[in-house]
Amino acid sequence: MTLALITGGAGFIGSHLAHKLLAEGGRVRVLDSLDPFYDPALKRRNLKDLAELGRDRFEFVEGDIRDAKACKRAVAGVGVVVHLAALAGVRPSLQDPVRYMDVNVVGTQTLLQQIEDPETRFVFGGSSSVYGGNKDVPFSEQQAVDRPVSPYAASKKAGEVLCYTWHHLHGNPVTCLRFFTVYGPKQRPEMAIHKFARAITDGDSIPFFGDGSSRRDYTYVDDIVAGVRAAMERQDSYAIFNLGGAATTSLSDLVAQLAAALGKPAILKKLPDQPGDVLITYADVSLAERELGYCCTTPLADGVKKFCAWYVKEKSAGRLP
Ligand SMILES: NC(=O)c1ccc[n+]([C@@H]2O[C@H](COP(=O)([O-])OP(=O)(O)OC[C@H]3O[C@@H](n4cnc5c(N)ncnc54)[C@H](O)[C@@H]3O)[C@@H](O)[C@H]2O)c1
Repeated sequence: MTLALITGGAGFIGSHLAHKLLAEGGRVRVLDSLDPFYDPALKRRNLKDLAELGRDRFEFVEGDIRDAKACKRAVAGVGVVVHLAALAGVRPSLQDPVRYMDVNVVGTQTLLQQIEDPETRFVFGGSSSVYGGNKDVPFSEQQAVDRPVSPYAASKKAGEVLCYTWHHLHGNPVTCLRFFTVYGPKQRPEMAIHKFARAITDGDSIPFFGDGSSRRDYTYVDDIVAGVRAAMERQDSYAIFNLGGAATTSLSDLVAQLAAALGKPAILKKLPDQPGDVLITYADVSLAERELGYCCTTPLADGVKKFCAWYVKEKSAGRLP
């Protein structure tokens, strides 16, 4: 049974992936620093659930991807690495670009350098933000992505480039995945869907940037996990795939769907567009469909209901702020 290393596996997407692999009977090791970008207690809870499910098939290494020794220990004996550890989020990256480069770029290079087995497959958690202000939608992997509009996006583009160079020099199979706004249970608390649900539930106003016409391609976390799962099996060369919902929803529509699912009105606090934000994200997933068998199975309307059901349950159990 191949041992999979998931960096950032205590976080939102990583813990869903780890859960899936353990439920399949797989072996999982997580490397995570429990970074305080959001409450580490949420990450510890994810790890506890994984430890209960996986028992001796699950292992947690607390460590930083910028620490070569921690990475060396984490990659020992693994058949596949799924690299999700990062500082995520566009807006905070404008405040501290150097830290974003340190973690997302230096950290990625440090991790890659510790992998000595030429058979070890590597999957990189990239981002749709690399498409920047591209107007040509849907975004396809063939488009130029050398004009990212935030330090976060630049760090994710840099990650793809570092992965290519490492693949070129060492020959390991590498798959870079560009995730389009991922949501679902356990979503990061600062992300729009989670933040808006909290505000609607608490009767607070929602910070509503722009005129509500900006559009996002939202992807339910189970679909992302299925795409990552397929990418983990790729044996050849270097490739980049979009993983998205292949549909777009306006900010206004999203808020309306959340308010309807929670049965409470949304109070909007209108604010100007933010630097670093883009007007639209929209994935062309045809390459992932052909090569990975990727299929987006959860439309936003269903996913929002699932997210809200989870949110209400967790909130009423006192497990969320
Ligand atoms: N959620 C999305 O919509 C989305 C979209 C595009 C790309 N991504 C990418 O997917 C990955 C996972 O995102 P997420 O939403 O699950 O975020 P997350 O913050 O929940 O998970 C990231 C994990 O990385 C860990 N981490 C941070 N810095 C670290 C370091 N220096 N060393 C070790 N661990 C560290 C954190 O503690 C956290 O558990 C990230 O690489 C992110 O950039 C996410």
